[in-house]
Amino acid sequence: MRKPFIAGNWKMNMTAATGAALIKELAPLVANANCDVALCVPAILIPAMTEAAKGTNIKIGAENIHWAASGAYTGEISADMLKEYGVEYAIIGHSERRQYFGETDEMVNKRTLTALANGITPIVCVGETLEEREGGVTEKVLDKQLEIGLKDVEDVAKIVIAYEPVWAIGTGKTATDEQAQETIAYIRKKIGEIFCPKCAEKVVIQYGGSMNAKNCKGLMAQPDIDGGLIGGASLKLDFATIVNFDK
Ligand code: PGA
Repeated sequence: MRKPFIAGNWKMNMTAATGAALIKELAPLVANANCDVALCVPAILIPAMTEAAKGTNIKIGAENIHWAASGAYTGEISADMLKEYGVEYAIIGHSERRQYFGETDEMVNKRTLTALANGITPIVCVGETLEEREGGVTEKVLDKQLEIGLKDVEDVAKIVIAYEPVWAIGTGKTATDEQAQETIAYIRKKIGEIFCPKCAEKVVIQYGGSMNAKNCKGLMAQPDIDGGLIGGASLKLDFATIVNFDK
């Protein structure tokens, strides 16, 4: 009932030339995917990657979106700017934004509401640090991120959640299938409490954090894991193997 969704997060990698070359190679490999496929790319690459992905099943997404329609927000990107290129997804509240750029749950909430108001699907990232996991406060951290981040959302089914334990991002240290399933099941339960249990069943929840061509099958076999947000492995052809996890 929930369609799997594999998205790449290029972060601050690739150029127009290398990105277009990768998309050209990926396109035939993912053409028969049974899941939704997207690559979220640096803002400056959106026009060229949109062009490169034309006529393929690869959708181009953004890595951020600002809440104001326009104005004095140096370095930010508005919904209109994204919509002009047909952008359908925007990553919001990635842990790197939270860690290095002071992103708060309140900002995540404003960006999420703006994306929804503009018909862009927000990929809202949540997850605990190693300290928080070891301190036994993972659920508390997720509660706060979800309660504030999703405040005033009318139709939660229009949101994608990416559960990314911070300790697993770019570290090669993946959560085990069981750990990821257990935490994502908790996130679904919490969304059920904030909204309604039936609504929570409709929300696509991805796992992210060192997901790769080898571990994707085990993670995707978990009942509550509906997809992946892929960093490092989305910069190479491994991304196609992950997209084809069910083949
Ligand atoms: P990673 O990044 O796959 O390189 O760990 C995932 C992410 O941060 O979205």
